Amino acid sequence: MGAALCGELRPFLCPKMKIRTSQALIMCPDHEGTIAYNFLKQTDFVCNEEVLLLLHKLNSWKPIEAVESMFPEMEREEFYQSIQGLIDIGALVVQDSPDAREERAKVEDWEWGIPSALFHYCEQNRKFVSRSEAEEMQRARVRHQAMVEPYLLNDFFETQIELPQAAANVTELMAKRRTQRNVMRTGISVSALSDCLFAGMGILDEAENCVGKLPLSMTPSGGARNPYEAYIYAPRVTGLDPGFYHYSAKEHSLAKVKDGVLENPSALIGDQPWINDMSCLVFLCADFRRTMWKYKDNNAYRVILIEAGHIGQNIMLAATEHGLTACPSAALAHNEISAHLQLDNALQSPVYALALGVPDNSGNQLH
Ligand SMILES: Cc1cc2nc3c(=O)[nH]c(=O)nc-3n(C[C@H](O)[C@H](O)[C@H](O)COP(=O)(O)O)c2cc1C
Repeated sequence: MGAALCGELRPFLCPKMKIRTSQALIMCPDHEGTIAYNFLKQTDFVCNEEVLLLLHKLNSWKPIEAVESMFPEMEREEFYQSIQGLIDIGALVVQDSPDAREERAKVEDWEWGIPSALFHYCEQNRKFVSRSEAEEMQRARVRHQAMVEPYLLNDFFETQIELPQAAANVTELMAKRRTQRNVMRTGISVSALSDCLFAGMGILDEAENCVGKLPLSMTPSGGARNPYEAYIYAPRVTGLDPGFYHYSAKEHSLAKVKDGVLENPSALIGDQPWINDMSCLVFLCADFRRTMWKYKDNNAYRVILIEAGHIGQNIMLAATEHGLTACPSAALAHNEISAHLQLDNALQSPVYALALGVPDNSGNQLH
């Protein structure tokens, strides 16, 4: 009976298969009813009362035939089509299916709860608007709403204190840093790249806590967990074969992940055309497990994102010192980058990218 059903109705739905409600589902009220959103599949759908009740009842794995017995008034074919539809939109998952495995790796192993998981996974692999679309949106908005004031001036406050001019020897290098998207399609030296990597990621010492040793690095890291690894796509670094590399901060060395030249590296970073002229791309990838191991509070997720900024700034300053630009971006194609870098755990993810190049000072595209 089961086998016949599999053949007749759906090649992959059988009465003995077990299903349950997706663990990646969140719900909120809407004028249409209750909207359910699957934050891994990035699908949404309106739930009627019947579906809501079904999702409530399927909070653990149940054979499809047991679910069928809850709907005696439904024709068998209609029932299986409905179940398949609910699987397709991300309401239900089949035990041991790729979706169920993805949920285990991404949701069950995520120890910081649903709100931060929702944010984290929703921000992955987004589609980004082009520069001209972004400009058009801004022009349209400014027509009916002025831009938000970019400064808070002190004349707002009663007491104001003048400060001395910032010391040039402290701030000179920082003041030279610019996101310069027009670059010459030329190589940079491996020693310049090495300095940038060391400035961002270098390990200087170790600290010891109650359970072991932890790295002390060039940038502050919550609990000294140092969750970041740096990877480089190096099409034009003198002395390096074109390809992908991992930077070991502990050893201050590179290891080749794989050879290769990408036809269109901008596809990894929001399809921004200027990326293709850059000498190399540095990807800062977080291993969330390092920080999760110690911190149970989901504020630690925010800590990890903040740390990318510290590392990125150091890389940018080292690049500036070498006469280079290091253009930051968070417009990442997470899955594609992870595949190139061979990141094989769902709790590792690229967070920030820096594109290094030799500025062409004849112009800069502004955003
Ligand atoms: C987190 C972050 C993400 C950014 N992403 C992009 C990006 O995707 N594309 C881009 O052209 N610039 C990006 N920028 C660079 C900003 O546009 C740039 O910093 C800003 O225009 C000010 O210029 P400046 O860096 O020269 O001071 C990003 C900056 C930050 C901090």
